[in-house]
Amino acid sequence: MGDGGILELGAPALAPRSSAPRHVALIMDGNGRWAAARGLPRFEGHRRGVDALRKTVRAAIEFGIDYLTVYSFSVENWSRPPEEVQSLLALLHRFIRNDLAELQANNVRVKVIGEREGLAPEISALLLEAEQTTEANTGLTLVVAFNYGARQEITAAARALAEEVAAGRLRPQDIDTEAIARRLDTADIPDPDLIIRTSGEQRLSNFMLWQAAYAELLFVPVHWPDFSRADFEAAIDDYAQRDRRFGGLAPGDCRAKTAS
Ligand code: FPP
Repeated sequence: MGDGGILELGAPALAPRSSAPRHVALIMDGNGRWAAARGLPRFEGHRRGVDALRKTVRAAIEFGIDYLTVYSFSVENWSRPPEEVQSLLALLHRFIRNDLAELQANNVRVKVIGEREGLAPEISALLLEAEQTTEANTGLTLVVAFNYGARQEITAAARALAEEVAAGRLRPQDIDTEAIARRLDTADIPDPDLIIRTSGEQRLSNFMLWQAAYAELLFVPVHWPDFSRADFEAAIDDYAQRDRRFGGLAPGDCRAKTAS
């Protein structure tokens, strides 16, 4: 019996299917609408959003995902009413205080992306503590995007490159996509394979714009607090059905033979 490899004679020319995603990124949207639909304050939606996050992290570990990125607070979120900003900061604080021990016990490495400058010292210290406590872990990497904006991240990379050129350490002709990628917050993280946004909204909202170049996008019509393990599993199954060609052609595509 053959091994099903591409050299096996008579094997059907099936396009290869993507398998499990290595890196899943989540835009956890819909907390406010979830709360409004129940006559609850927005804070309650965010609080239940943390419960959903906790369950999703556990599922990601179980599914063997290497990287899980969560959009927890964008640079634009500072424009929300001060009490909502305070509640989101308090939830981040509580999440790290209450869940760090479980993350550590589960071999999860926490990494934070986003602008650190200008944050309140207690928030910076908390983020650093989460990273330092878990830095030697080798399981799931939980990437927390906090005070994150993709345009800001790309702008900072451009500025760093310009400074290196001005200082004579880099030649403009050496700036390529790799040089830019290495100066992003995600320098040591592979690009997301799958980006899931809950709540039915279909946009990226300044999230991982560079890294999303070839990501598969999935928009799920449930509000984030209702996002379940089954929804996550269905998203991964959906991903597994997709053909990723990265701008090329799938092996076995008849156009591959005629393309010059
Ligand atoms: C979007 O819902 C969600 C956010 C702005 C924050 C997401 C934060 C959490 C799930 C909890 C905090 C995270 C950590 C890491 C502890 P929305 O408020 O925009 O919902 P809406 O569009 O329905 O109003």
